[in-house]
Amino acid sequence: MSNHSTNSNNLDLSNPFTLKNGTTIKNRLFKSAMSEQLGTKAHNPTRGLATLYKTWAEGGLGLSITGNIMVDRGALGEPKNVVLDEKSDLAPFREWAKAGTANGTHLWTQLNHPGKQIPNFICDEPVAPSAIALENGLEKGFNKPRALAENEILEIIQKFATAAELAKTAGFTGVQIHGAHGYLVSQFLSPRHNQRNDQWGGSLENRMRFVLAVYHAIREKVGKDFPIGIKLNSADFMRGGFTEEDSMEVVKALAEAGIDLIEISGGTYESPSMVGHKMKPTTQKREAYFLEYAEKVRSLIDTPLVVTGGFRSADGMVTALRSGATDFIGLARPLAVDPDLPNKLMTDATHSIELRPLTTGVKLVDKMAMLDITWYEFQLARMAQKKAPKPDMSEWSTFFKTLLGAGVYSFRKRRA
Ligand SMILES: Cc1cc2nc3c(=O)[nH]c(=O)nc-3n(C[C@H](O)[C@H](O)[C@H](O)COP(=O)(O)O)c2cc1C
Repeated sequence: MSNHSTNSNNLDLSNPFTLKNGTTIKNRLFKSAMSEQLGTKAHNPTRGLATLYKTWAEGGLGLSITGNIMVDRGALGEPKNVVLDEKSDLAPFREWAKAGTANGTHLWTQLNHPGKQIPNFICDEPVAPSAIALENGLEKGFNKPRALAENEILEIIQKFATAAELAKTAGFTGVQIHGAHGYLVSQFLSPRHNQRNDQWGGSLENRMRFVLAVYHAIREKVGKDFPIGIKLNSADFMRGGFTEEDSMEVVKALAEAGIDLIEISGGTYESPSMVGHKMKPTTQKREAYFLEYAEKVRSLIDTPLVVTGGFRSADGMVTALRSGATDFIGLARPLAVDPDLPNKLMTDATHSIELRPLTTGVKLVDKMAMLDITWYEFQLARMAQKKAPKPDMSEWSTFFKTLLGAGVYSFRKRRA
């Protein structure tokens, strides 16, 4: 493949990349999913989503991933999620896809089922592979799930496939399975959360049956040329959870099955390392949280990779590309503050963006307000209204606006 014969010492962020199925992405800058919470009451996309993704497309991104879209109307992770199923109105999805693919940008939908990571103000009894409650202080905000029956597992697999088919019909240029951050796919993979003793649990081979079935069901509906990616945890960072060794085996199986792109992240609601919590200072210094893991994956498979989490400078990104560990640079929070960042990074090798630590100065308020999410969501909402992001938006104003806008429920624990 031409990408792999390129001398990696000369690679740049602006170089195109061709996936194995022949799809060319115009550069190496990848927008990672950020849940926008911009769905209507009927869980269709609001117009603001088209505005937001057009802004990002104009900012120079090569490949953009939507915030997580739910495949099951009965299982929302957040109140204003978008849902894609037979009941969806495809017209606003078409508008969103058209706007977000401007400027030659690829726009893929991230498809998700939250499993038990549903706050208890949304759902009394969520479903999961096994009836095991979340821990680490989440007991109050999340109800204990019930274990899925086998016919329900099969139905959910089909819901992923239906959502993917509809995404293709609406004009999105690919899909990404959300296999990370402790949601249903990741719950199946984890021996901590999946203690089933049927063909869907137990051995790693059984635990990965669900993700592989989701992949194959989607592939059957969208055909061989439509890109399918996955966001996968390098590990859950929880005792008894999904380990790096497990993850390597899953990556190998997905590569063999023909997945087009693997995005590497990590963590769950119980241990949120996807946004850099509890990272060693040396890891934070080299910017990317999961680069070491990607280097190991690289030696096992030749499926294209994206590493997401922590990238802030053109220099750090180019170094990661040239190290050969990743093909794309995944960015989330920086793009919520500067949608033009890709253009700046590609034209100025010294460009970097600093994201200040968010705090009100009162620990309890910080925890309640989940500033790491809500502050960024407000920036997305501004862009959806054609306003520029406001990097100096105060943490207290985020707190009060969230309180006024959605009431006390919005402070219940949730994380993307
Ligand atoms: C507001 C917000 C919403 C997010 N929503 C999602 C999501 O829907 N799906 C997902 O896979 N990751 C989600 N994430 C995680 C990001 O994709 C990314 O993995 C993480 O923020 C680390 O990358 P960064 O350091 O570039 O921000 C979200 C992050 C933020 C800040």
